[in-house]
Amino acid sequence: MKIILVAGARPNFMKIAPLVRQLKGRRDFEYKIIHTGQHYDEEMSQVFFDELEIPAPDYHLNAGSGSHAEQTAKIMVAFERVCEAERPDVVVVVGDVNSTLACSITAKKMGVRVAHVEAGLRSGDWAMPEEINRVVTDSISDYLFVTEKSGRENLLREGKRPESIFFVGHVMVDNLLHMKRRLDGEEMAQSDATALKTRLGLGRYAFLTLHRPANVDDPETFGGIVTALNEVSRDLPILFPVHPRTRNQLDRNGLKFSDSVFLLSPLGFRESLYLWKDAALVLTDSGGLQEETTALGIPCFTIRENTERPVTIEEGTNTLVGVRPEGILAAYRDFRDGRVKKGRVPELWDGRAAERILDILGKQVSNPIP
Ligand code: UD1
Repeated sequence: MKIILVAGARPNFMKIAPLVRQLKGRRDFEYKIIHTGQHYDEEMSQVFFDELEIPAPDYHLNAGSGSHAEQTAKIMVAFERVCEAERPDVVVVVGDVNSTLACSITAKKMGVRVAHVEAGLRSGDWAMPEEINRVVTDSISDYLFVTEKSGRENLLREGKRPESIFFVGHVMVDNLLHMKRRLDGEEMAQSDATALKTRLGLGRYAFLTLHRPANVDDPETFGGIVTALNEVSRDLPILFPVHPRTRNQLDRNGLKFSDSVFLLSPLGFRESLYLWKDAALVLTDSGGLQEETTALGIPCFTIRENTERPVTIEEGTNTLVGVRPEGILAAYRDFRDGRVKKGRVPELWDGRAAERILDILGKQVSNPIP
């Protein structure tokens, strides 16, 4: 079976890494890696290929930034040529970024089967571009690999056939556990960020990520979040690797973090994990970090009004605190007073999702879903 693995934006790289790791040891698959170029800065892209030991892509589509339509269109045109040249049996897309949407539509229209890894997640929030990407990708995918049970329920409600849905666990957790094991056995190179961690001490700081357009593109919302985080940092210093979108909006709107919020450049996977795994608290609007903190049992505040990953709330360590300062600060007071959420690791988040996915796809050669 010949499969194409698609990755384009930062959160995709850690999801294809475990699939590649498995594929290297299997003879029943031929595979090609496609980088769409949605993310292109060294620190948003190449560093992940290096650290996660993903081989150089077979094709780089160089899509770059642009409006949603521009970016999606560029990827589609370039990816069509790849599918023409390679004639894959299956295209594997991960997550919910524009690259996921663009490549799934292109493949499906060329009669190629599409496998969506991390299918079925729903926030119900149509203002999120990712929600549109998820719903459209799932609607045309042949194999739907879900990370949590809510994914299956959502897909069944939308009329997907039960035999196309597979609850396999989470490739991102495969990657996290792999990298955590390696990190535990290795020295971390010294950098400004690691020096800060040493200075502050384990469990004596919070780790923050923030990049959702809904949070950072609107100056009023972003201003409220900054005010709340400045207040939190009076009690607990905050380490904050800043996404390029967020950096642009900070500069544009003249917003100022206090001196106890330490602004860092975007970090690679290892350095980021090295910092957040020993944080007292993670504050984020990322999808992935909500899940990764649950997988390692670290308390997490999600600065959003909703989440498409309910298992992290119901079973994990995640708390939805909203985007208003009052909500963020009320949750923080609870945390400071010792009311810290305990969680358990969700079913099948055991580091073997990639193996399950390839076993299922492998069987499709001889016995495809009609
Ligand atoms: C994208 C994904 C989002 C994901 C996020 C992780 C979509 C719709 N959004 O959002 O789901 O959580 O990636 O990072 O696919 N930029 C750079 N260098 C880069 C990449 C981007 O400077 O390497 C800047 C550009 O100014 C660009 C802006 O960041 O215009 C936004 O990038 P884009 O890929 O459009 O969206 P993200 O906000 O990164």
